[in-house]
Amino acid sequence: MTVKKTRVLNDRPKDLRRAAEVLKAGGLVAFPTETVYGLGANGLDPAAVAGIFAAKGRPADNPLILHIADPAMLETIVRNVADEARTLMERYWPGPLTLVFQKADTVPDEVSAGLQTVAVRMPDHPVALELIRLAGVPLAAPSANVSGRPSPTRGEEVLQDLDGRVDGVILGDVSAVGLESTIVDVSQRPFTLLRPGAVTLEQLREVLGPLALDPVLAGAGRCGRPRAPGMKYRHYAPDAQVVLMEGTRNEMVRLLSQVAAGKPDRVGVLSTGALRRMYRQGEHPPFPFWFCWGEEEDPEGIARRIYLSLREADRAGMDLVYVESLPEDGLLMAVMNRLRKAAGGRTVRWNE
Ligand code: TXA
Ligand code: MG
Repeated sequence: MTVKKTRVLNDRPKDLRRAAEVLKAGGLVAFPTETVYGLGANGLDPAAVAGIFAAKGRPADNPLILHIADPAMLETIVRNVADEARTLMERYWPGPLTLVFQKADTVPDEVSAGLQTVAVRMPDHPVALELIRLAGVPLAAPSANVSGRPSPTRGEEVLQDLDGRVDGVILGDVSAVGLESTIVDVSQRPFTLLRPGAVTLEQLREVLGPLALDPVLAGAGRCGRPRAPGMKYRHYAPDAQVVLMEGTRNEMVRLLSQVAAGKPDRVGVLSTGALRRMYRQGEHPPFPFWFCWGEEEDPEGIARRIYLSLREADRAGMDLVYVESLPEDGLLMAVMNRLRKAAGGRTVRWNE
């Protein structure tokens, strides 16, 4: 791949106009959203969209989300919109909710990866919305990371991954949500949750009534072929090996104590404050790295710090991190979904 000169841009009007010109000319620009940073291209231009796949090293069978600035833009890219989908849009757009519709012919196959559907979202971020408006087209935008790595929630993380691979990066604020959007397929019945996110299952059921779960989210083994093609890849993963600890906090403390007794110098822990306090009160041997997400009572805070914690483990040079499992309701369902993927199925439980 040729090395590009990546312009570092800020989120003020002059730079946003410049970024929009780059996008209109078929270039790639990363930008902040409220979920994670996105890597944008003109979503109606097949060559520009192909550039996204090249820059990220993304498998060609993984379709992209189109980002719009105004619900009216939707009518130009999809075929049918069910009434319940309109209710969801009224309630949650702009916001961290992506809906999958039957696609119109205007949407290139490169975006939908050959599917007859297209995923659409209206982000709740002033910079993202202004950029889409200035570009005047829906922006195709996956998370702005190299494929397989944790999604970026900070501008500097985008630069770490994509400097030299894209035309511009807009440095904005830290992503307020910190996890990718919820995805619901409303193109056929029953409507199906494909990826959990900040709009929770409980909130969706309030509008939709019964809602199917993609078998991969519902199944005990959580394996099989998901309907959101991107959910099948090992994903969101740092270089360090990730292992999910199951069981009670007491059991996790015992397990960790046994690990630490071996004085490992490149093994760390990611957990809530509660687990860290329990460990310290017991005077167990220390770990060289321990990232605390905050408290279980503040799931938003945990969600915001998950990807940061995975990236920090790499920065600290860890080979392996033990990660606390959390109860899977509300927003923590999405947190656990990402942690499971980062772990690639590896779990451990204390055994007497
Ligand atoms: O919050 C987000 O959604 C972020 C920001 C940048 O908007 N974007 C994002 O995009 O997470 P990406 O490409 O990293 O994830 C998109 C997911 C993938 O799992 C993909 O397979 C799925 O959406 N997807 C896209 N189009 C689809 C379709 N037509 N049917 C089913 N799944 C689809
Ligand atoms: Mg992604």
